[in-house]
Amino acid sequence: MHLFQVGIVGCGGIARVHAAVLHQLPDTNIAACADIIPERAEALAAQYGCRAYRSMEEMLDAERLDSVHLCTPHALHTPMAVAAARRGIAVFTEKPPVISHEQWTQLEQAAAQVPLGVCFQNRYNPNVQAAKDILETGQYGALTGARAFITWHRDESYYRDSGWRGAWATEGGSALINQAIHTLDLLVRLMGPADLAETHMVNHHLRGVIETEDTVEAYLRLGGKPVLFFASTAYAADAPVLIELQAEQAALRLECDALEIITGHETQRRTFDLPQTLGKGYWGNGHLPCIRDFYHSLASGKPFRNDLASVRDTVMLMLAMYDQGRKALAEKNAAEG
Ligand SMILES: NC(=O)c1ccc[n+]([C@@H]2O[C@H](COP(=O)([O-])OP(=O)(O)OC[C@H]3O[C@@H](n4cnc5c(N)ncnc54)[C@H](O)[C@@H]3O)[C@@H](O)[C@H]2O)c1
Repeated sequence: MHLFQVGIVGCGGIARVHAAVLHQLPDTNIAACADIIPERAEALAAQYGCRAYRSMEEMLDAERLDSVHLCTPHALHTPMAVAAARRGIAVFTEKPPVISHEQWTQLEQAAAQVPLGVCFQNRYNPNVQAAKDILETGQYGALTGARAFITWHRDESYYRDSGWRGAWATEGGSALINQAIHTLDLLVRLMGPADLAETHMVNHHLRGVIETEDTVEAYLRLGGKPVLFFASTAYAADAPVLIELQAEQAALRLECDALEIITGHETQRRTFDLPQTLGKGYWGNGHLPCIRDFYHSLASGKPFRNDLASVRDTVMLMLAMYDQGRKALAEKNAAEG
């Protein structure tokens, strides 16, 4: 068995989840980590017995790595992936893979050089897979539409303390690109690509605090069917995400880890055995199966479920939604001074 030598870039919140997964997997060794805040890299290095660096470049110069995990702010994913690809190093990047059309073009070039995976871990949620399987049987008729709600809590300190969130240049957006992108991706996977997106973005509770959106509402058409989509970080708590897929003879409701099949006369509720939760439960429990699958694909040479081509439709839809929503939000912010 090949033991993959892995480097982690960015040693903040989510890096701890990546490190915990990589530590558990039999075929990965955390060789090094890097952060521009040295104490963060040193703390992670001390926990996992690896070497700490102050930048990705320093780490790549000093180490012989098979892969890097990008756990840095959004705007850095593409340039870091490009730099790793130039050295022939495989990339596993946190979402979002890009924040602009220009970055997408650059990232596609990088993905042509090395294996590149994207952390859309919720694709591995068992209830999502079960819903997909049921839809494919056609037993409840064709899909007629869907709705999705993501209502979480992100307060002023979440943005003020981070140094990169809440700004177009570094986060590329907020409620959609950061929190709701997973749900958008699941809808696209379950229903098909978008042929329409009418999007509005606003600031409700963070007006004057962030320049990006804290709330987004959209009327989408995915696979030719209407989808109502609402995401906001203005709620009082991190409520479970709701996705409801309406078919001709039943609604499939995915909430928390469960799948409910609601017909005219009964509701069947299915729950699933889940892997251990390593991060916050409402993100989903999928980092472990997702990262494990990435290394299986590297070892076998088989395509990875979350390769760049597989996220294209989601990313294009997300960028189109920002093309629509961002301008009006920026004008409103400017008018309010
Ligand atoms: N998949 C998920 O469910 C999930 C959940 C949380 C976060 N994320 C993603 O993970 C990424 C990081 O989020 P986070 O919450 O851990 O943020 P964070 O701010 O806690 O961590 C980011 C780290 O990157 C470091 N950094 C910044 N610039 C750097 C550079 N040039 N070189 C090296 N390190 C640098 C920062 O110092 C910080 O320690 C984001 O893309 C976020 O969207 C994904």
